[in-house]
Amino acid sequence: MYQKELNAIKRANLFRQRKIYKNVLDFASNDYLGLANRKKSLQKACILLKKETSFAPKASMLINGYHPIHQKFENFLAKINGFEAGLVVGSGFLANIASIEALVRKNDELFIDSEFHASGNLAARLVKKVSVFEHNNEKELESLLQKSKAYRKIIAIEGVYSMIGDLAKREIFELAKKYEAILIVDEAHSSGTIGKNLLGIFDYYDIKIEPNFIKMGTLGKAYGSYGAYILSSKEIRDFLINRAKPIIYSTAPSLFDIALAYTNAKYILKHKDKIRKKLNKLKRVVVEVLGIWPESLILPIVIGDNKKVLQLQKKLLKKDLFVGAIREPTVPKAILRIILREPIKKKELKKLLELIKEYD
Ligand SMILES: Cc1ncc(COP(=O)(O)O)c(C=O)c1O
Repeated sequence: MYQKELNAIKRANLFRQRKIYKNVLDFASNDYLGLANRKKSLQKACILLKKETSFAPKASMLINGYHPIHQKFENFLAKINGFEAGLVVGSGFLANIASIEALVRKNDELFIDSEFHASGNLAARLVKKVSVFEHNNEKELESLLQKSKAYRKIIAIEGVYSMIGDLAKREIFELAKKYEAILIVDEAHSSGTIGKNLLGIFDYYDIKIEPNFIKMGTLGKAYGSYGAYILSSKEIRDFLINRAKPIIYSTAPSLFDIALAYTNAKYILKHKDKIRKKLNKLKRVVVEVLGIWPESLILPIVIGDNKKVLQLQKKLLKKDLFVGAIREPTVPKAILRIILREPIKKKELKKLLELIKEYD
C-alpha cells in the first residue's frame, strides 16, 4: 500500500530504520551526562517510589493521576529555575503540542523560529495565524512583531537548537519583553548542559524570569529519564491545565520516570561544577583538533551530501564509533552530529575527530 512512497524515500537516501547498537562508543545519544547508565540513580528512584502506595499514574492528572511525586518534582523544578509554577507532561513532543495549541488562541499569532523542532511545526498547523522567522534572526522577528495586529503574540524558540547546536540569541528574550509577547523556550537540549548552574539558556544569559516566559524542558536527555515539564506563571499553568489537550486527555506521566528524573536533577545540581569542568575539557579537545569552541554539547560537522554522510557514519561504526548522520531536508546541509557527552574520554573524542578529518 505504501511501497511506492517507501521506494522514493530509499532512492533519496532518506530511508530510516531502527537498530539496536551494542558495544559502540556513543557520540549520538542525548544522554548528555551519562545518567542513563548510573545505577545509583536507578536504586534511588526505586527507593523513592517504594515509599509510595501506588506506582503507576492510573489516570489523567485531571482525574486522579496527579501524584505527590509529580507535585514535588514540579515544585523543585519551578524553584531552582525561578518560575512560579511547574507542570509535568508525558514527553517533550506532547509538551510543545500542548503549549502551542492551547496558548495560541483565535485572535493570536505564533512567531516560530524556522529551525524549531518538528513538534512545534506540527503544533503550528493547529493554530490559525503563524509567522515563521529565519533562524535566530531577531531583526526579522522584530519587524514581524511590529506589524502584527494580534491580540496576543507568542514566540517559540529553542535554547540550544537540536541539530546545529547553536544558542538562541539573547536579543529574542529582550524582544519578548519589549513587545509583551509570550516566549516559549524549548530547553530540550539546553537544560542540564549550559549555564552556571547547568539549568539552561535562562541561566546561561542570567535572564530574570518574567511572567510571560515559559520554559519547556525534557527529561529524556540530560536528565537521563523520560518525560517533560513546562515552567511558567501560575496563570499560564492553570490555563494549560484547563485547555491543553495532551495534559487533560492523556494519562499522567510515569511515576518511575519522574522519580528517576527527580533523582538525576538533584544529582546534576549538586555536582554542577564538577560536571561543567568535565564538559569544558571535551570542548577544549574540539578547539585543539578543529579550532572551534562549541557553544553547546552538539557539534555539527557539515558534510553536505546525504549519501556521503551515511557512508561516513558506516565507516566510523566499523571502528565502533557511533555518531548521528542527519540528512537533508532535516538540516539544510547533511551533517555528522557529534554529542560531547560527559562519559566520553578526551582521547576518545580526539580519536573520533581526527578520523573524521582524515576521512572527509
Ligand atoms: C528540541 C526538541 N524539542 C522537543 C523534543 C521532544 O522531546 P521528547 O523526546 O521528550 O518527546 C526533542 C527531541 O526529542 C527536541 O530535540
